[in-house]
Amino acid sequence: MQTLLNQSALNGSMPDRLPVTIARRTRRVYDIVAGVYPLSTMFFHSKAHRYALEVSGIRDGMRVLEVATGSGEMFRRLVQRNRSGTTVGLDISPNMAAKTQRDVCKDFPHAHARCQAVDARFLPFRDGCFDAVMCCYLLELLSQDDILRTLGEMRRVLKPKSMLTLVLIGQNTDLFNKAYKAAGTLVPAFWGRQIEQRVPDFLSRHGMNVQTDHVVRQGFYPSRILTARKHV
Ligand SMILES: C[S@@+](CC[C@H](N)C(=O)[O-])C[C@H]1O[C@@H](n2cnc3c(N)ncnc32)[C@H](O)[C@@H]1O
Repeated sequence: MQTLLNQSALNGSMPDRLPVTIARRTRRVYDIVAGVYPLSTMFFHSKAHRYALEVSGIRDGMRVLEVATGSGEMFRRLVQRNRSGTTVGLDISPNMAAKTQRDVCKDFPHAHARCQAVDARFLPFRDGCFDAVMCCYLLELLSQDDILRTLGEMRRVLKPKSMLTLVLIGQNTDLFNKAYKAAGTLVPAFWGRQIEQRVPDFLSRHGMNVQTDHVVRQGFYPSRILTARKHV
């Protein structure tokens, strides 16, 4: 309760519904669903993935990082686009990371691509070593402190003037928001809670400027796609 009050006082906004880290539970839940997760991506995320890749500015020959690959559907798109570059992926769930790595090795045996089990809050890369960072549907699962830490990490590993692309769950549909809130209350480690409306402010706190901002809908499922540039 104290944490909730402190955070809302700091933000001057409503209390965060995910005030403490539940990363360990998130890892367990996503480990369990790794085998069937591609279905969820196909039905809800594939349109936003396609759009995000188009606005990301990612071109062949770059050094690209995807944070929270899940079962690897966006990762495959990235590797396909970046045939002669290097594509690095990570996910906190070892089963998700292993599936992503296995599938990409099978389909693109000659690509410079690897995916490992890593916690996005502590990226094991030196400053400024990536030309682009992609991150889809992760921030919903992190506490506010962890969102800020993770955005800081993604910014740190980007080269100056390079772009971060974020895909977030849209908050612009009342009925969907109600359903999402109910799902998030039942299994917070899987669903988290919607946060997209606060993300532009989080980005500007890290000195990142939003460049593009689009909403894409796949059936009843809305996604918001933001690109933001690191200044220096
Ligand atoms: C909702 S899924 C999205 C997966 C994929 N990006 C997509 O677009 O379909 C969220 C993913 O974030 C991963 N994740 C959650 N917390 C993480 C953390 N702290 N570090 C890295 N990955 C994390 C989960 O294991 C899961 O695979």
